[in-house]
Amino acid sequence: MPVAIITGITGQDGSYLAELLLGKGYQVIGMVRRSSTVTMERLQHIQDDIIITQGDLHDQSSMVALIEEYKPDEVYNLAAQSFVPTSWSQPLLTAEATGLGVTRILEAIRLVNSQIKFYQASSSEMFGKVVEVPQNEDTPFYPRSPYGVAKLYGHWITVNYRESFDMFACSGILFNHESPRRGLEFVTRKITNTVAKIKMGLTRELRLGNLEAQRDWGFAGDYVQAMWMMLQHPRAESFVIGTGETHSVREFCEVAFGAVDLNYQDYVVQDPRFYRPAEVDLLISDPAKANTELGWKNKTTFRELVEMMVAADLQRLSTNPQGTR
Ligand code: NAP
Ligand code: GDD
Repeated sequence: MPVAIITGITGQDGSYLAELLLGKGYQVIGMVRRSSTVTMERLQHIQDDIIITQGDLHDQSSMVALIEEYKPDEVYNLAAQSFVPTSWSQPLLTAEATGLGVTRILEAIRLVNSQIKFYQASSSEMFGKVVEVPQNEDTPFYPRSPYGVAKLYGHWITVNYRESFDMFACSGILFNHESPRRGLEFVTRKITNTVAKIKMGLTRELRLGNLEAQRDWGFAGDYVQAMWMMLQHPRAESFVIGTGETHSVREFCEVAFGAVDLNYQDYVVQDPRFYRPAEVDLLISDPAKANTELGWKNKTTFRELVEMMVAADLQRLSTNPQGTR
């Protein structure tokens, strides 16, 4: 039975990846950081099938102990401080976890068994103020947030360990991906959750920042397949994963409100609090390399994604108004 360690298993992607790997017959080990309440909401349905163990991206020895104890074949590093606005208010924590945390895991693998395959969750946020449209693996980076800068460090240290120590270290440059399990602070889920609340008479308005920002939004369930495919590829490389389409926050609102027969213009209020010090205006992927070399294809359309998220929030609010998913 192959063994996989997932850091960040309690997050959106961690839960989908754990499901995927269990379905493929892996023993799944999830690393979680210690907290006073355990955030297992996304994992309830598979909790009995996985092993949960404590560790923290800030703590080198916990990484080494994890690799020594579980002897994984594959390590997926999904853990990070992943919310872009928080990276301006907590830039050093973001650099420590999202950036240096990658080196800590790579070092643990190098010291214990350098044959272990490694996946790093890199981000389209590294393209930032884009210098090329669409963005592919060769597009130069221009990060626009402390988060983007930290991810860029994580990306390059992954490439560097691959080249320096001949390690099987892959960097997946994933464009935005969403789902009903997305955190409530990210714009897509903030919109679909509020649309559901408005429809049910629980609130009257949706306060947002920049409506013109454009993102290449896909479904997280499709994207975790690409992570696994990268580690099964004959060579460790970097791959861009996205839909190849872009849509604005405004369009997302239009479709989400439209799904419940409402007009977004009647409810959306622009609020300066949600603008960023530096914005990423436009992201759009060119996933040709992943399509041809990995055989990965995006499956879920933009409209399907938005409607899936609105439907899930309506369903959840009608059965469990206090829960987040
Ligand atoms: P997420 O929902 O925010 O999950 C982040 C995970 O990291 C959580 O499990 C969190 O644990 C954990 N974590 C944070 N700090 C940690 C620390 N110091 N030690 C150990 N664990 C820590 O993020 P996601 O959307 O699933 O994204 C997964 C990864 O892909 C992240 O690295 C993200 O930056 C990257 N990424 C995401 C996207 C996207 O659109 N979703 C696109 C490109 C790249 P708690 O539950 O305890 O908070
Ligand atoms: N969060 C949020 N809240 N964003 C808003 C709002 C709001 O009220 N109003 C407008 N936006 C705009 C932001 O300015 C940004 O341009 C866009 O919506 C998307 O914001 P987020 O959903 O917070 O995602 P992100 O693109 O900054 O970052 C996500 O994608 C990255 C990949 O490109 C995160 O998942 C990162 O972890 C990931 O790496």
